[in-house]
Amino acid sequence: MTGLIVLFWILQLGFALLLFFLTIAFITGAPFVPTASNVSEKMIQMAEIKAGMTVIDLGSGDGRLLCLAVKKGARAIGYEINPFLVLYTKIKLFRTACSRRLKIYWRNFWSADVRNADVIFVYLLPWRMEKLKKKLLSQLKPGALVVSNSFIFRNWPIYKADRINHIYVFKIGENKS
Ligand SMILES: C[S@@+](CC[C@H](N)C(=O)[O-])C[C@H]1O[C@@H](n2cnc3c(N)ncnc32)[C@H](O)[C@@H]1O
Repeated sequence: MTGLIVLFWILQLGFALLLFFLTIAFITGAPFVPTASNVSEKMIQMAEIKAGMTVIDLGSGDGRLLCLAVKKGARAIGYEINPFLVLYTKIKLFRTACSRRLKIYWRNFWSADVRNADVIFVYLLPWRMEKLKKKLLSQLKPGALVVSNSFIFRNWPIYKADRINHIYVFKIGENKS
């Protein structure tokens, strides 16, 4: 009986923590909505990934974009605020070919250093894009690409787009604009 009560409270605690982190993700970035498989493939194609590039997913979810980027020869980094998703991704990718060149950090991406990135993936919310634009323009190097699922950055010309799948790519210019 005591065992059952302990199990009950462990499950309650786990559920409460899960809800807590889902809420934190919504407050600080976006809720967990994974990019659909066909859209992920398109995003990877549009990212112009070459071997040796560094690809970062800001809010990496279940790591699906990062794993595809690794298959293109990139070194992939994910920042994810929900530790359940970090754990899930690590377990899912454990001992797969992806895991060798992929790192997932349990971290708020707003405080992450993205200066080394050649490609950034984002799938956030419209009202986060302005703040994100400032971070990306101040940190990314000229030529880096930002591939956004669904939402655009205002007053930043679109470098290329797949309007059917709502994928928008932005390029950091020579003068960081
Ligand atoms: C819409 S989902 C996109 C997931 C993944 N990038 C994809 O395209 O499949 C947004 C993700 O960002 C994470 N997230 C939200 N705010 C965050 C923050 N401040 N720092 C790190 N991750 C965050 C959420 O937990 C969620 O997994």
